Amino acid sequence: MAYLDQMLTKAKEAPNVPTGPKNAPEGQKVLIDSYDAVKIYRDSREAVPLYEIEAPHFRGEEKNLIEALMEIALNVITVEASALTVEEKRQKYFQRIIEIIEQTPELKVPVNAKEFYAKAVVQEMVGYGIIDVLTQDDQLEEIMIIGSNKPVYVYHRKYDMVKTNIMYYADSDIRNLADRIARAVNRRIDLQTPLLDARLPDGTRVNATIPPISLDGTTITLRKFKKDPLSVVDLANYGTLSYEAAAFLWMASDGIGAYPANALVAGGTASGKTTALNMLTGFVPNNERVITIEDTAELNLPLQHWIRMEVRPPSIEGTGEVSMDDLVKNSLRMRPDRIIVGEVRGAEGHTMFAAMNTGHRGVMGTVHANSAKETLVRLTSPPIDVPLSMISSLNLIIMINRIHDRRKGAIRRVTEIAEVVPSDELKMPTLQTLYQWDPIADVMRATGLPSFYLQLLSKYTGLSTDDLNQEIIKRTKILEQLGKEGKRNINDVCNVTQNYLASRRLKV
Ligand SMILES: Nc1ncnc2c1ncn2[C@@H]1O[C@H](COP(=O)(O)OP(=O)(O)OP(=O)(O)O)[C@@H](O)[C@H]1O
Ligand SMILES: [Mg+2]
Repeated sequence: MAYLDQMLTKAKEAPNVPTGPKNAPEGQKVLIDSYDAVKIYRDSREAVPLYEIEAPHFRGEEKNLIEALMEIALNVITVEASALTVEEKRQKYFQRIIEIIEQTPELKVPVNAKEFYAKAVVQEMVGYGIIDVLTQDDQLEEIMIIGSNKPVYVYHRKYDMVKTNIMYYADSDIRNLADRIARAVNRRIDLQTPLLDARLPDGTRVNATIPPISLDGTTITLRKFKKDPLSVVDLANYGTLSYEAAAFLWMASDGIGAYPANALVAGGTASGKTTALNMLTGFVPNNERVITIEDTAELNLPLQHWIRMEVRPPSIEGTGEVSMDDLVKNSLRMRPDRIIVGEVRGAEGHTMFAAMNTGHRGVMGTVHANSAKETLVRLTSPPIDVPLSMISSLNLIIMINRIHDRRKGAIRRVTEIAEVVPSDELKMPTLQTLYQWDPIADVMRATGLPSFYLQLLSKYTGLSTDDLNQEIIKRTKILEQLGKEGKRNINDVCNVTQNYLASRRLKV
């Protein structure tokens, strides 16, 4: 086996001693936080905090030895991949590689570095390579590889943008990772399709680009999947919205079983739109049939009657595409109680509004826009192009923003809940603010304006607006109580809100 000889020769040249992380010179560098194996520093000479881990930077001979081990492992390990979870696969590979090291003394792996090399090989083969450690840190939202010989950046839940001590030294290493990710989802990234946007089996959302699209080499952006999604209680605790506004949205989402609001969450990139939509969708009563349509499936909820749909990009030959619009149209033939559209960007917006106009209620989604007014403009302009006559079938716009606060760092706030008030059929409807965020006090307040949506809800439920306001107070208390008890897990929270709706249904 020539490859083995070749690899062994390569490996023989290796000194075999792990070098570990390279620390930046000491100076104005101050440790500001540490958890697990992570250390976070602030350095007056750096624009952003530094994130350091005991991540080995494989170079030269160390890398050769790992590659040699990988070559052998690739040829001798056979694991029934589909039957195992990622974690089981990792363990299995680890054991087998230790065995390989022990059975191949020619490799000259020092006894005390056996585990180091086995771990590195597992990371390369089953995990994400040298950024694997980052994928295990739940404090990170995003991992950004911007090219070789440049640090990997991460977006930290607490410290925002942070520079890590991890670096790729060759573009081919980044490209290999991009290729491996593409293969895992049966796709390809090459000159013809230099962009990859996909969701991995573990829920991670990946975007990769290669030259000539990205001028300085391969880039990979990973949006980590939060296994434990943020619940309405989390969002209220973080101050993203008030308990009262949350209770109002809860009532609007189920519409007391009679008149659910059609609502859109609007905001900028990574402002928290999908998370807010997840919260709204969690309020949909369990006796309804929910169909969600997404580009990459991100919604994560304990719903009972739920059909999840995801678009399919065109194949390498450019055929077989199933678009958002195809899926929205198809969902109308599936007798949906609810149609939830992950992100409205094009023709699907038009179809969605046509559905609302023909009586579908509780249609919800997100849209990229910076204000409620801009949301209406975007909806009525190309490529979405909703006719003005249809636009007032939308009831609510929930504006969410990521704001940089001097003291608190990056915060996410629902800055406004606006309702759409129809005007003349041929004119743009007006907007009325129901809840508004006060940036100075950092609190959300009800404007107290008489709500058009509540009037409609009153008409359809036979309840007075006073009754509806009482209902909001009642629900506010339920959510506040959950907050006080520290019950924040999405399953527990949905259990309580669903039980409340079930008991209400019995009464009606
Ligand atoms: N209110 C919040 N408080 C704290 N973190 C949040 C909040 N909302 C979202 N996040 C976190 O921010 C990240 C981005 O959130 P999300 O995916 O909801 O944003 P988005 O606006 O849908 O992004 P995109 O524009 O990429 O679709 C996630 O890691 C999520 O966990
Ligand atoms: Mg989103």
